[in-house]
Amino acid sequence: MKQQLTFALLALLFSAGAGASEDFQAEKFHQTSCTGCHDSSVYTRKKRRVNSLPRLESQVRMCDANLGKKLFDDDIHSLTDYLNDNYYHFSK
Ligand code: HEC
Repeated sequence: MKQQLTFALLALLFSAGAGASEDFQAEKFHQTSCTGCHDSSVYTRKKRRVNSLPRLESQVRMCDANLGKKLFDDDIHSLTDYLNDNYYHFSK
């Protein structure tokens, strides 16, 4: 009986955890949280600073740190993919 309860609790924990990161919507997050200091034109300007996928990820991390949101790795990756798919187009 006790074992069953532990199992049920674990299952609940796992599903909640998975849900949280699947629910992360990069586009929405970007619109609401990332456009306070710059808009998306910095991603397409001629002299943009980011010139590779790893640099894009570290820039996203730096901006997230400035923002103080403390995103999970998964969310950083979704955000990086979102920016890459829509603006940077680096090959993976
Ligand atoms: C606290 C202010 C601030 C916030 C909030 C912010 N950024 Fe930035 N971001 C900057 C600054 C400053 C730069 C450098 C702009 C420059 O060089 O002119 C920058 C540059 C960037 C660049 C590089 C642009 C290039 O030149 O290629 C990316 C990508 C970026 N930010 C992503 C994000 C993302 C994603 C978020 C949301 C998590 C975000 N930023 C939120 C301040 C911010």
